[in-house]
Amino acid sequence: MRYLVCAITLCCALYTVPVHAERGDWQIRMGGSLVNPKSDNHGIVEVDSDTMLTFNATYFLTPNWAIELLAALPFTHDIDLVGGGRVAETKHLPPTLSAQYHFMPGGKVRPYVGAGINYTLFFEEDTTGALAGSSLKLEDSVGPAAQIGIDIDLSDRWFLNAEVRWMDIDTKAKLDGVSLGTVEIDPWLYGINLGFRL
Ligand code: NI
Repeated sequence: MRYLVCAITLCCALYTVPVHAERGDWQIRMGGSLVNPKSDNHGIVEVDSDTMLTFNATYFLTPNWAIELLAALPFTHDIDLVGGGRVAETKHLPPTLSAQYHFMPGGKVRPYVGAGINYTLFFEEDTTGALAGSSLKLEDSVGPAAQIGIDIDLSDRWFLNAEVRWMDIDTKAKLDGVSLGTVEIDPWLYGINLGFRL
């Protein structure tokens, strides 16, 4: 019995969650993000917005500095002719690796900023309407990304998160092998997440 009590006490002691982020800590956030491409992203075609499930994992190098990887389920965007109807849709995945600076790692409310690199993969570009039967190809994009966000504690382990991101996503579009030039999607992302500390 005494050993059991000792074991439980030890487990509880080891399981206590530190309130301050420390080197080696992980935080996971999951939620929804709206990807809103800038308007007038191309002279001929226009990419619309979409909302999808996103997750990110943050690893703390120090109490203030962290590395974050953003992942998502594929976003699907409608593509319209400027002034016309829908002519295509595309899926994309925008994994983003960022360095973050957390201003108040010990607080219950923790704002941060980040900057990094985005890689966007386009796939399943399907044409319809006026472009039905044509082949649309969007090249993958690599570009800078920036973010601001805030974590608000719900308990020692769980927190709410709100974030705004900007990504420089430019893709070269081809229709039946003919270049349409560069589509500047450069979207703003607005995310609401539930987070927890591992
Ligand atoms: Ni751009």
